Amino acid sequence: MNKDFKFKLYFRKSSFKKDILSANILFEQIESHKPKHFLEVGVFQGVTSRNICEKLNLIHQNQFKYYGIDIFEDADDLLDNKEMTSKHNKISNPIKHLLYNIIFKENLNSLKSVKELLKKFNNNVTLYKGLSEKVLPKINISEIDFIFLDGGHSYETVKNDLFLILKDIKKNKVIICDDYDQKKYGVKKAVDELINNVTEIKELNKRLVKITT
Ligand SMILES: C[S@@+](CC[C@H](N)C(=O)[O-])C[C@H]1O[C@@H](n2cnc3c(N)ncnc32)[C@H](O)[C@@H]1O
Repeated sequence: MNKDFKFKLYFRKSSFKKDILSANILFEQIESHKPKHFLEVGVFQGVTSRNICEKLNLIHQNQFKYYGIDIFEDADDLLDNKEMTSKHNKISNPIKHLLYNIIFKENLNSLKSVKELLKKFNNNVTLYKGLSEKVLPKINISEIDFIFLDGGHSYETVKNDLFLILKDIKKNKVIICDDYDQKKYGVKKAVDELINNVTEIKELNKRLVKITT
């Protein structure tokens, strides 16, 4: 990881823990490609989002845009276990439980709470609340330089999200697909199918960077 940048957890949960390999891969790719327009599908509690904004701010001195999609506090109602949210939604740390559930009564997964975490970058950040299948068509994907795909993890959702992205994304952009190697999810199947079976998508192969957590 870049020496002037350190991944922070902001006392929340994230796909990444401090300094583990997969966070390094993501942030090394950001360092290498220096995207100005970033899209994260699956914001969760906003930890990676905040780190991405801090990193882009270091690179571009405030001249960047971050777009994030999630269903936020509606996840429990809208998703089943295939989309891997249930384990994320529980607060197991007793101090965090006391702070967020009892004292502040703050839902860390809510749009309001994530907005608060990202308020330092208010002018750079746009958050969309909704299912990716509904929100992705409303975003101008042709303007996006870099996508971190970490929303629903079922085969159907990843396949559909990738389809919506690949049909509009410009050449030489980067898509990072989280949990590619995790057998319990459908990410690998959806990514491999797109790469191996669909002729038109084959030429887009080099845009896909697969990482694991
Ligand atoms: C693994 S978490 C994202 C972690 C986050 N990227 C991070 O690094 O901390 C997955 C998130 O995707 C969201 N999600 C799952 N399926 C979704 C869908 N179909 N549309 C939008 N968001 C979805 C869940 O609500 C959850 O917050």
